[in-house]
Amino acid sequence: MKKMSKSVVFWDKASENYDKTEERFEYIHSKSRELTKKYLNSSNIVMDYGCGTGTTSREIANQVKEIHAIDISSKMIEIAKEKAVNKKVENIHFAQTDIFDKRYKKESFDVILAFNMLHTVAGPQVVLQRIYELLKPEGLFISVTPCLRDKMSFMVNIQIQLVRVLCKIGVIPIPIRRLKSSELDDLIANGNFQTMDTEKIYKGASSYFVVAKK
Ligand SMILES: C[S@@+](CC[C@H](N)C(=O)[O-])C[C@H]1O[C@@H](n2cnc3c(N)ncnc32)[C@H](O)[C@@H]1O
Repeated sequence: MKKMSKSVVFWDKASENYDKTEERFEYIHSKSRELTKKYLNSSNIVMDYGCGTGTTSREIANQVKEIHAIDISSKMIEIAKEKAVNKKVENIHFAQTDIFDKRYKKESFDVILAFNMLHTVAGPQVVLQRIYELLKPEGLFISVTPCLRDKMSFMVNIQIQLVRVLCKIGVIPIPIRRLKSSELDDLIANGNFQTMDTEKIYKGASSYFVVAKK
């Protein structure tokens, strides 16, 4: 049997309380969806990369043709599937996989979302290259990323310092990148994207919304 990576084990475990713990960031999540909806239309084929428990996919599903919601955690996907069934949403295809899965073909998506996950991937540059490859010409990459090196509220900063310690001692076994929003701008520009819109959604938690065109 294949051994699960530490980060999959971590996210599987996190899935149990994910929706509950995210309630305190509901403003960020709902604002992210509100801003994103302006860029969607009913013919869109969308990928929700790192979909977690699927809230974003479910909330935008009636505005687009089809969504491919993917996550490395099978437990996140299980919860996401169940919630979509409960809400009778039928145009989301869930898969436990990552973005390099060969099933996904070049230039096949109109929009790729990466919400609250780019800061946790090992190689964001390579991920951005893959996103570029998967997008149709003029397709949109829309991300929301906590930029943990930007200014933030004292309380959030204390929590981030704690998370850093937990990462250092291996309790949190995933890379949590401390990005500045300007570094994210550079990563996106270096990936040949053209940035169309940016917004600091919630300065207290340094949450940065970006829309970039291929
Ligand atoms: C902080 S959660 C964000 C979930 C959701 N996008 C949201 O905004 O609530 C990060 C998610 O990314 C997933 N993830 C992390 N690395 C991934 C990868 N390389 N490929 C796919 N999913 C990944 C995790 O399993 C987790 O569900």
